[in-house]
Amino acid sequence: MSASGEKLLNLTLQVWRQKTASDGHFETYQAKKISTEQSFLEMLDLVNEDLIGQGKEPIAFDHDCREGICGMCSLMINGEAHGPETGTTTCQLHMRHFKDGDEIVVEPWRARAFPVLRDLVVDRSAFDRIQQAGGYVSVNVGGAPDANAVPISKKEADLAMDAAACIGCGACVAACPNASAMLYVGAKVSQFRHLPQGQPEKAQRALNMITRADKEGFGSCRNHFECEAACPKEIPRRVMAETFRDFTAAALTRES
Ligand code: FES
Repeated sequence: MSASGEKLLNLTLQVWRQKTASDGHFETYQAKKISTEQSFLEMLDLVNEDLIGQGKEPIAFDHDCREGICGMCSLMINGEAHGPETGTTTCQLHMRHFKDGDEIVVEPWRARAFPVLRDLVVDRSAFDRIQQAGGYVSVNVGGAPDANAVPISKKEADLAMDAAACIGCGACVAACPNASAMLYVGAKVSQFRHLPQGQPEKAQRALNMITRADKEGFGSCRNHFECEAACPKEIPRRVMAETFRDFTAAALTRES
C-alpha cells in the first residue's frame, strides 16, 4: 500500500464479447496491477492495452465525459447497472470498491429495445425517439424574456431540476425486470411539468412519450422500483406517478 492508501489489485474479468446480433459469449481476462485509485473504465483501458499488445480485438464499451454527466457509460457489473455503488455512474466507479482476487462479470444493458451493437455497446437510440415524441416545449421564438418575468416557486423549480438531472444512460431500463423505460420518461416529462412553460402540453407530452416507449419495445412499469435504486442520478419514483397522472388525463380527454 502506498502513502496515499493506494493498493494494487489483481482481478479476473468475465466480459461479454459479441460481434453480431447472435454470437455473444463470455471471455475471461486477467486485469493485473490495477490501482484502487483508478476508475472502472480506466481498468478496462488497461485490459484493452494488453489485448492490443497481444494483437487481439479490444473490448468495445461506451464512454465520453467520464465525469458522470453525459450518460454514455453503461455497464452491468456483477449484475448491477453501473456496479455496486449507489448514485454512481460506471465512469465514476473506483476500483477501491473491489478486493484483490475478485472476479467481476461485465455485461451490456440487457433489454429488447437496446440491441447489442458490439461487446458492451448497445443501441440506445430508442431514447432519442421517445424524446422526439414529446420531450420539448413548443414556444414561439422571439427575444428571450426577462427571467424574473415568469415567477416560479422554489419548490417547483427544485422538482423540475431534480428530474432534469437524468442523463439518459438507460440504467433504469437495464435494472427493471420488465425493461421498462418509465423512470426515463417520467424524468423527461417531470422536468417540464413543474415549469409554467411546460404546462400547456403536459398531458399530451406524457401520452406521446409513453406511447412511443411502448412502440420501441420497452416493458410496462410494475412498481418494482429497481430503476430508482439503480439510477446514478437518483431520480425519484414520484416522476413516474406524475407522468401516469398526466397520461391518464390525456387518455381520458383525447378526441378519437
Ligand atoms: S462517460 Fe459520461 S456519464 Fe459516464
